[in-house]
Amino acid sequence: MRIYVSNAEGIAKAASHSLIAQIDKKPDSVLGLATGTSPIMLYNEIVKEYLEGNVNFKRITSFNLDEYVGLSGDHEQSYRKFMEKHFFNRINIEISNTHIPNGEAENPDEECERYEELIRKAGGIDWQLLGIGLNGHIGFNEPGDSLIAVTHMVRLKEETRSANAKHFNSREEVPTHAMTVGMASILKAKKIIVIAMGREKAHIVQQTIMGPITTKLPASFLQIHPDVTFFLDTESAMLLPRRLVIA
Ligand code: F6R
Repeated sequence: MRIYVSNAEGIAKAASHSLIAQIDKKPDSVLGLATGTSPIMLYNEIVKEYLEGNVNFKRITSFNLDEYVGLSGDHEQSYRKFMEKHFFNRINIEISNTHIPNGEAENPDEECERYEELIRKAGGIDWQLLGIGLNGHIGFNEPGDSLIAVTHMVRLKEETRSANAKHFNSREEVPTHAMTVGMASILKAKKIIVIAMGREKAHIVQQTIMGPITTKLPASFLQIHPDVTFFLDTESAMLLPRRLVIA
C-alpha cells in the first residue's frame, strides 16, 4: 500500500499521471471508474492532459462501479449522466465502450449478472478508481455482517442516502436501491487508486488504512490488495502517522 499526500491539485496531477502511465503501458486498458465529489478534479486534470495530446482513450473500455436503481441514464442524477458530463463527453472514448449498470433494467438481478459477465469477458479491471463513503463503503458495498463478492443490487444505508441528498432536490428523491460491483470484483482489479479529501473523511481514512479488516468497514479490505495507492489531501490524512506517508 502506498499513501500519497498533497493538496487537491497535487492529488489530481499525481493520480492522472498514474492513469496516463497505465494507458501508455496498455492502450486498450480496462478502467474501473467512480462518481461522486472525490474524482471530479482528477477527471478535469485528465481532460486537460487529453486536450494537450498526452493521452488517447480510443481503445479504452470502462466499467463504472455503480448506478441507482430506477434512474434512467438521462436522469440528471444518474451516474451515466455524471460520467458523460464530467468525463466521457470531454474525451475521445467510444461511448459504446463505456459501461454502467442500467438503472432502468426490468430485472436488476439479471442486469447485475450481465454486468459481472461483461467485466469478466473484458478480462477484468486493469486500473480501478475508488472513493470512500463516510461509512467506509466502496462502490455501494455498504457496511454489514457480510459482503457480496459479485455485482449485485443493494439497499442503500440511510446515512448514504443522506450524504448523497445534496445532489437531489430533496432527500426523498434519493433512490433507496443501487446496483454495485461487488467486493471481489473490485479487489480483483490489478491496480487500485483511492481518492479521499476533506476533514470529514479523516476518521474513515485512518480506519480504512490502520483499523481491523472487517465487513463493518468494507474499505478496510483494501489492506490486502497488493497494489493500492491512496491519494489524500492533508485534511483527510491528518490522523495518519507520518511514517506511513510518502509525500
Ligand atoms: C461512487 C461510489 C461511491 C463514492 C463514495 C464517496 O461511484 O462508488 O462509493 O466513491 O460514496 O463519495 P464522494 O466522493 O462524493 O465523497
